[in-house]
Amino acid sequence: MSSSGLRLLIPEEKIQSRIRELGEQITRDYPQGPIYLIAILKGACFFLADLARAIRRPVRIDFIGISSYGRSKTTSGEVKLTKDLDASIEGADVLIVEDIIDTGVTLHYLAQVLAQRQPRSLRIAALLDKPSRRIRPVDVAYVGFEIPDEFVVGYGLDYAEEYRNLRDICVLEDRQ
Ligand code: IMP
Ligand code: MG
Repeated sequence: MSSSGLRLLIPEEKIQSRIRELGEQITRDYPQGPIYLIAILKGACFFLADLARAIRRPVRIDFIGISSYGRSKTTSGEVKLTKDLDASIEGADVLIVEDIIDTGVTLHYLAQVLAQRQPRSLRIAALLDKPSRRIRPVDVAYVGFEIPDEFVVGYGLDYAEEYRNLRDICVLEDRQ
């Protein structure tokens, strides 16, 4: 028999105050005109909603879906698009919004795909980063928190589709 438990890693207040800081930084960094925020489904939706409201600039939002091919993601680095953007990003200032960067496979792939569509600029904002796990290089402009190599849930992040609605970010211990 085994059970899994949650250990608090980043409380809600810390998440929210860090997102306010990121929003201020993004507000300062970008030129006039709308920022195209592109969230990766599904985990980044919560971060997108809070980050968008922390940016004092016009924003557009869109969503993209990505999945790995079976269990091969970490070894082969193969990923595929399951839902594309609704609109063109040509000439736009695009900011990809992601919940967590782990191996880097997902964002390495997505950044290549979106760069081919000729946006004016293309940057990445990730709430969490596990740099020790990286197997593909990713150039991240905005990071909320660097975390150790532990499996986390909450604030959009799931384990088997559970825990996304936790307000804090927690380590899922003894996961089966
Ligand atoms: P990467 O392609 O390995 O960088 O993986 C990124 C994706 O893996 C994220 O968008 C998450 O969906 C998932 N992921 C990676 N680490 C965690 C974690 O600790 N908790 C929940 N999901 C994770
Ligand atoms: Mg994800």
